[in-house]
Amino acid sequence: MSKSQKRSCIALVLAAGEGTRMKSTIPKVLHQVAGLAMVNHVVKAVAEAHVDCCAVVTGNQSDLVEQAISGFNQQAEFFPQVQRLGTAHAVLAAESALARGFDDVLVLFGDTPLLRPETLLQMRQCLADGADVAVLGFHADDPTGYGRLVEEDGRLVAIREHKECSAEELAIRFCNGGIMAINGAKCLELVKSVSNNNSKGEYYLTDLAQIANERGLKVVSHKGDELEILGINNRVELAEAEQIWQQRRRRELMLDGVSMIAPHTVFLSHDTAIGVDTTLEPNQLFGPGVMIGKGVRIRGYCHFEQCNIGDDCDIGPYARLRPGTAIAPKGKVGNFVEIKNAKIASGAKVNHLSYIGDAEIGEKANIGAGTITCNYDGVNKHLTRIGAGAFIGSNSALVAPVSIGENAYVGSGSVVTKNAPDDSLVVSRARQTTMEGRAVILKNKALAFKKAKSQKPSS
Ligand code: UD1
Ligand code: MG
Repeated sequence: MSKSQKRSCIALVLAAGEGTRMKSTIPKVLHQVAGLAMVNHVVKAVAEAHVDCCAVVTGNQSDLVEQAISGFNQQAEFFPQVQRLGTAHAVLAAESALARGFDDVLVLFGDTPLLRPETLLQMRQCLADGADVAVLGFHADDPTGYGRLVEEDGRLVAIREHKECSAEELAIRFCNGGIMAINGAKCLELVKSVSNNNSKGEYYLTDLAQIANERGLKVVSHKGDELEILGINNRVELAEAEQIWQQRRRRELMLDGVSMIAPHTVFLSHDTAIGVDTTLEPNQLFGPGVMIGKGVRIRGYCHFEQCNIGDDCDIGPYARLRPGTAIAPKGKVGNFVEIKNAKIASGAKVNHLSYIGDAEIGEKANIGAGTITCNYDGVNKHLTRIGAGAFIGSNSALVAPVSIGENAYVGSGSVVTKNAPDDSLVVSRARQTTMEGRAVILKNKALAFKKAKSQKPSS
């Protein structure tokens, strides 16, 4: 364990902002990247940086924000900031938590979904190495709007907000990324010394750099990656963050042994897990809660949500696997098949044009083209059970609740409403009648009708 991990730590996630530029009825920090609210990406990074307490400062629609965060991380604590008077004021909203006494205090923003835990650990390391205040800095091509890191002889002496900068300071391109690590023993006293004597009348947390310097404390900058601290203010930036997140995660999965033929056409969720030697053909969409095993082939154009695919399965093209689908190893799901809340045992095949909902399918069963489980009676959902080795003929409708026994055979085009015992043959359709020569008679009749119609004088 590194030195920083032995120290106690509180992370304050500032998320009281309104985010008016999102033009949304929901709070900015709840907009999602990879299917997870932005603030929960931050909370996740915090948890992975071995933090003891995650305190979230809420304001705008705090009930919604609290609900979304506690559904993801039950340890998070919430501190309302009633008036939004600036980032230092927001830190003081969590004064009671800070007063419990922590070695390290991390201050982060809730709208930076690309933040990585490694960066937080590096910030903590700065404190472990003796800094009192550490600021995450980055080099911006266009620094407009950011606080500038003012350095003298390699020391960080102040952070100047854009609006407060002199002409000379405006030219600085080394900017404040918004993440700060502060010596816990000194944090409260330092933050309380911040005044609102500036052009916006706000309590700027960034004033801490100068205040700490004036007290002879050690203030350092830690250089980070601009992409990582990308703050999202509108939906264009949200889409940019999504793209960066997707690229990053695809790369990680490929380096971990997953093949992607056209990576830029694969869309993952924050929790998509894929095993080694699995190949993704182009155009895939993974909603939340998907686990794919090893050695799976996912053919083009599939859509997955909350489902589990075992090792060595062969899925798609054009398969839609919905919540509650579990396919055991070596299963085969073919084109235009929709499966929902169904367990498909090992070696079973659902190859063409089927709907399988609320079902259990036994080992090596074969589900013929166009099979439909009629699971819904307009009010309730019912279960269909298909035994191991059963064979369901094409275009059959299985009206649930219904069971098809092991090795049973359902004749094509059947509508099955009663259970079929093991080893039985079930056929439920009109018996075939064959009339020799009848087709010729029918056709001649039709031709005669057509001729008579064309000879009629038009009125
Ligand atoms: C802030 C920094 C700036 C930095 C930039 C990086 C300050 C004073 N300035 O500016 O140096 O370059 O981020 O993106 O810190 N918040 C509250 N309560 C408040 C005010 C803010 O919770 O009273 C939250 C916001 O919801 C947001 C974060 O704090 O998550 C930052 O506030 P914002 O207004 O975006 O600050 P910037 O002007 O971007
Ligand atoms: Mg901002």
